[in-house]
Amino acid sequence: MEGKQNPVYLVTGGSGYIGSHLIHELESKNIEAISFDSNINLRKFSGFKSIRHVRGDINDTKFLRDTIMAYRVEGVFHLAALKSVTESLRNPIKYDLVNVGGTASVLEACKDGGVKNLVFSSSAAVYAPNLGTNPINEDHELASINPYGDSKISGEKMIKDFWLEGNGSSICLRLFNVGGSKNSILYDSKGENVMPKLARSFLNGTRFDVYGSDLATPDGTCVRDYVHIDDVTSAFLKSMSLLEVNFGTMHGVFNVCSEIGVSVNQIITEMRDYSGLDIEVNYSEHREGDQVVVIGGNQKITSAMNWIPSKNISQIIQETWDHSQL
Ligand SMILES: NC(=O)c1ccc[n+]([C@@H]2O[C@H](COP(=O)([O-])OP(=O)(O)OC[C@H]3O[C@@H](n4cnc5c(N)ncnc54)[C@H](O)[C@@H]3O)[C@@H](O)[C@H]2O)c1
Repeated sequence: MEGKQNPVYLVTGGSGYIGSHLIHELESKNIEAISFDSNINLRKFSGFKSIRHVRGDINDTKFLRDTIMAYRVEGVFHLAALKSVTESLRNPIKYDLVNVGGTASVLEACKDGGVKNLVFSSSAAVYAPNLGTNPINEDHELASINPYGDSKISGEKMIKDFWLEGNGSSICLRLFNVGGSKNSILYDSKGENVMPKLARSFLNGTRFDVYGSDLATPDGTCVRDYVHIDDVTSAFLKSMSLLEVNFGTMHGVFNVCSEIGVSVNQIITEMRDYSGLDIEVNYSEHREGDQVVVIGGNQKITSAMNWIPSKNISQIIQETWDHSQL
């Protein structure tokens, strides 16, 4: 990335939570980026100087290819997707259309537009339930328990095919639970993950629902592996650099995670302590499609890219609280 003369990158899903942080990071390094998103949230870009926003649907292959060619895009970060496990259980076809069909369209547009390097935002949801095998490494069985995870497995297969067909290099990053925020503008205020939902409950004084309290974990609640957004954007940039070094010749799959498990109850306690506020917590049945413990192994990405998590769960919780209030 650093060595090339004025490379231009396209970020699908560039107005989303992770995409807007990635664009912020690219801009801070004076790297030119095009955001391609169907639902541009201009508020997220109010502080950016040189970012171009293209409003478009990733399923519109022709428009995407024309955009790639018009801006002479050299690398694509493909993040655009629907990401709710619960919604995917209710409406799996919608997830097939956007996450599977949309990824096929992005790959076609890259092929036609001559893009050789592609980084895909995949998820820990691709893994089969771990049944006590922690941490989960990249060679763990792929067998999702919900349509969202299925759509990421299909996406990963296509990203590998892009390389197998000789079109270029590709990397799939399996993100675990992403949290934290650079500022209140980029904060994921409408997020449906535990962290933003909990912050909203503290702010509004509303009851917080915890699904499952007698699970096989130390305090009975679900355990997840949280990784800071800055570490996630750093993994995307390092991946693109690795692809550029191995021009056209590599395909890789990497976990992006902290290797540390944190329970829902731990997060509630820490946000309660930090905010000085209290909320009512309601414990109900464990949800279908929800894994009990998900902790990843990060040795592979550490060895390949010298990537290590730089921020911990306390920083994620504190940033969530600080930025949720403005
Ligand atoms: N946030 C997490 O913890 C997490 C964890 C694992 C994987 N991921 C993956 O990372 C990526 C980004 O996640 P996020 O948290 O930023 O989600 P997000 O919902 O904030 O952003 C997704 C963006 O994609 C855009 N989009 C959706 N459908 C589109 C379409 N058809 N055409 C163009 N744009 C479209 C949306 O408008 C949105 O801006 C997703 O692929 C998600 O599955 C996220």
